[in-house]
Amino acid sequence: MDLPNRPCLLAFCRRAPRFEEAFRAELRALGAPLFAFAPGSGTVFGADDEPRDIGPHPELWRIHGAGRAALTVVLLDEKQRVRLRRDAPEAEGTLLAAVREAGRAVCAAPRGIGRRELLLNSLAAALGAAVLQACASARPVDDRKAVSGAPALLEVSLVVNGQRRRLQVEPRLVLLDALRENLGLTGAKKGCDMGQCGACTVIVDGQRVNSCLKLVAQLEGARVTTIEGLVQGGQLHPMQEAFLREDAFQCGYCTPGQILSAIALLQEGKPRDDDEIREGMSGNLCRCGAYPNIVAAIRGVAGRA
Ligand code: FES
Ligand code: FES
Repeated sequence: MDLPNRPCLLAFCRRAPRFEEAFRAELRALGAPLFAFAPGSGTVFGADDEPRDIGPHPELWRIHGAGRAALTVVLLDEKQRVRLRRDAPEAEGTLLAAVREAGRAVCAAPRGIGRRELLLNSLAAALGAAVLQACASARPVDDRKAVSGAPALLEVSLVVNGQRRRLQVEPRLVLLDALRENLGLTGAKKGCDMGQCGACTVIVDGQRVNSCLKLVAQLEGARVTTIEGLVQGGQLHPMQEAFLREDAFQCGYCTPGQILSAIALLQEGKPRDDDEIREGMSGNLCRCGAYPNIVAAIRGVAGRA
């Protein structure tokens, strides 16, 4: 069988995956086709085409040693070299989750990374997510749930605003939901929920991240700072004071993300002018259009730093 000369994902499943309409949007974001095989059948999924029957291709099962696990996923690069391969004992519902994670990672791409490399990295992340989900039984802490079909929970330890927090989470839980729902830290806001607005920005190990895209399961031991952690000894952080002084918000929905992003921006290197501030803050959107005042607040803190 001729595979395309670009990265693609092969999935070998014990049961044929159902095509869900949600696949389409995820594959569009991903920009890679998914070839899914089950015993006696094969289907290629693309963003803009109907699923197409391509036959079972037993030679691919042989080449990739698939069939022993419930799900085997193989990532091929454009030269059809195997970049990653995983076997998972349980495959329920993992394919869509994998493709979704990969699509989100593409949306959240930092500048300066080539799309091909990004795609491979994203697909690798997707495989990681799929396998995490499928292999959660390797570290179950709630056997009752695992037996009943719900994903087993993982134990993850984080340092949030200087405090060690231990969480038991589903493998697919993102940091934003963990902060808001599990830890009651509602400062980080849910805007687009797909890495495009910056409302959910927090700082993880010194880097600003969109917490709506970050799997908690990947953050064992990470240090997380949210807007709630900025006040020290009853004193607002200088960036918080600057936002107040410059009236850099209206409804305030985007403000926690803007402030954390601005703090990280200055830690990354002082912007030389307003253009660099705007460029550095371009991942944080403000529906109220408070941009001039936000830039003024950051300029003020940068000038004193
Ligand atoms: S909610 Fe995370 S980027 Fe929009
Ligand atoms: S202040 Fe309203 S969205 Fe930014």
